Parts: sequence; C-alpha cells; structure tokens
Amino acid sequence: MKVGLNRGCMRSLIDVVDLTVEEIDELINVANDIIENPEKYQEKCKGKKLATLFYEPSTRTRLSFTAAMMELGGNVLGFSEASSSSAMKGESIADTAKMLSCYADIIAMRSPKEGAPFVASKAASIPVINAGDGGHCHPTQTLGDLLTIKREVGRLDNLTVGFCGDLKYGRTVHSFINALSRYKNIKIVLISPEELKLPNYVKYEVLDKNKMEYRETTSLEEAIPGLDVLYMTRIQQERFVDIDEYNRLKDSYILTVDKLQNAKDSLVIMHPLPRVNEISVKVDDDKRACYFKQALYGKYMRMALILKLLDEAKKNPQKEQMYNLDEVVFDKFTCTNPRCITSTEQELTQIFKCVDKKNGIYRCIYCEKKANN
Ligand code: CP
Repeated sequence: MKVGLNRGCMRSLIDVVDLTVEEIDELINVANDIIENPEKYQEKCKGKKLATLFYEPSTRTRLSFTAAMMELGGNVLGFSEASSSSAMKGESIADTAKMLSCYADIIAMRSPKEGAPFVASKAASIPVINAGDGGHCHPTQTLGDLLTIKREVGRLDNLTVGFCGDLKYGRTVHSFINALSRYKNIKIVLISPEELKLPNYVKYEVLDKNKMEYRETTSLEEAIPGLDVLYMTRIQQERFVDIDEYNRLKDSYILTVDKLQNAKDSLVIMHPLPRVNEISVKVDDDKRACYFKQALYGKYMRMALILKLLDEAKKNPQKEQMYNLDEVVFDKFTCTNPRCITSTEQELTQIFKCVDKKNGIYRCIYCEKKANN
C-alpha cells in the first residue's frame, strides 16, 4: 500500500486504498454529476494533456481514459504498446516518466511489471495513475466497479458479493476486495478452482485483518442464489507459466441463462471485461447483466479522477512522500517475484515494508510479494 502520507501534496493513484472512503464518495458524486450535466465539464481540462503509456494490451482502460480526457476538453498523447516506445531500446520506466513530465500534465500507465506505475510516480513531476500493473492492482477499474454497484444496487454496504473465476491472477479482484473491505457488512463468496484461489496475502491482510466474512467454494451453482452481486472474471492466460494448466482450467466456469434461474431478481452481474467464454452472450439480454454499463461507468470515474488529481497538482505541486521511512528497509531483502519491476530494472533499490511487526513480515514496496526472510 502506497498511501500518500502527506495530504496537501501532489497525488498519484497507485492502489485504490490510496483514496479514503470519503474521497471515493466524492469521486462518485462528481461522476454522477458528469452523467447528469456533461456540458458543465466539457472545457474543464482545456489546454491539459493526458499521456497514456500502455506497455500491455488494453481496449477499455486506454480508450476510456482517452474518451474521458476528450470529453473534458483536453488532449491525449502516448503509446499503446511497448514496441512503439523507447522501452525497446532499454529506456527505464523512471526515465520515461521524467520525459513525459515535460510533455504532459498527467500520466495513465499500464505495465505487465508489478510496481511499474509506482516507480513512475516516484520519478515523475506530474500525477501518475496506475491503469493496471501485472497481477497486482487495477484501481481505476475498481472505481468504475464501485460506481456500478452504487448506481445499480443503490448502496455500497450490506452486500453479498461473489467473485468467480481466476482469483489468483485477477488484479481487478484484488483491488475490488480491498475497496469493499472498507464498507460495512460485506460478505464475500470466493468461487474458483483450487489452483486459482485468492492469494493468501489478500486473504490474511485484507479479509482477515478487516474481519470480513468470507467463504470459498468451487461451485458457481451453489453460490448464485445468495448473491447480490456476481463478479465474473476471465482466466488470465497471459499470467500462466504452464500453458497445459491454462488449457485445463480455462472453461472452469461459464455463466449461462440456465445457471441464473435460481439467482435473485435483483442480482447485478459484473465483469471487468474482456470476456472470453465465461459469460454466454445469451446472458447479455438479461436485465441483470451490467458489464457493458460497468465499462461506461469506468469512463465517468476516470473523468472524475483526472479532475481531482489535476486540481490537487495545481494547488500543491510538491510531490507526496511515497512511504514512511520508519516502516521500510533498504536492500535488506531481494524480491523474488519474476513479475516485479525490480526483476527487470535492476538499478532500483530493493525496498521492503514491515506489514506485521510481531511476526516480522515484510513485503516488497513495489509488488507486495512477501520477503523470504
Ligand atoms: N477491464 C480492462 O482493464 O479492460 P482492458 O484490458 O481492455 O483495458
């Protein structure tokens, strides 16, 4: 967790918990106002530029950020694949972020490397938004997900939420559970094959720490009747090391019209998209299917977020402190996560944060992998 320690400084958004619940409520209010009164916002970012640095494929996130900035009257520059950037010549994330600080006012970055947007935010002199880093976090997806529930269910507390599919690699799931942990009376049902269960660090440090009620099951049919929200996910082929394992697991869950027969009439079906085959296209006609609306709501939350971060940067151009020096250790451990940004950018200082003093547990500040101490 990279919570901005000094409120009143320029902010970036790396993890959804960098925002307080009050700030998320405010973003939801602004997004709702944008939906009601789009004309009020059409020149709010006139003369401003958003840089979209996407080192990994994207349809919704990159294009909704682009549409968001355009609808605010601003401009967009950037690249949509690493191969068309100087990353191919070996340019580091930090140097790229410094360069873009000369050309743009705000950055949205996606990378397969966990912690890359955090590294960019430390180097840049403009706000950086994490648009998805490896299997780690996807905070702007979560902001859109929260707006979806608020608009479709009418509340963000007293909910039973089922997560189904790839709970191991699904970064949207990790960010969303983190966000839900701060609302009252949330019950979580984790539906996955044994091999794709939610990582222990999310279980222990989010669900257990926040005393959230949760259970695990392998049966979607058994879980469906009790759910207010069903969050389907794609099996993340690109994160598997063993392709045979992917092929064995890829059809684990397919939501069909039949399987919805015992679901609540008020169920909200969500999916961060893209889908492969985990929701039958016939379900799209069901009034409970909200995943395309969810993608639209993501655009409005990105508009609200761009406005907030640009406003804070204007008022407070000095950079925020990214971690508390009393809680971190430098070069004491080496991160063993092959997806961590430190595995490719070897000049980065290895920084670990103590998350549990009593048991001496440290986690990598970039990707949150536990230190092997
Ligand atoms: N939900 C999501 O992140 O979609 P993209 O990968 O298309 O951006």
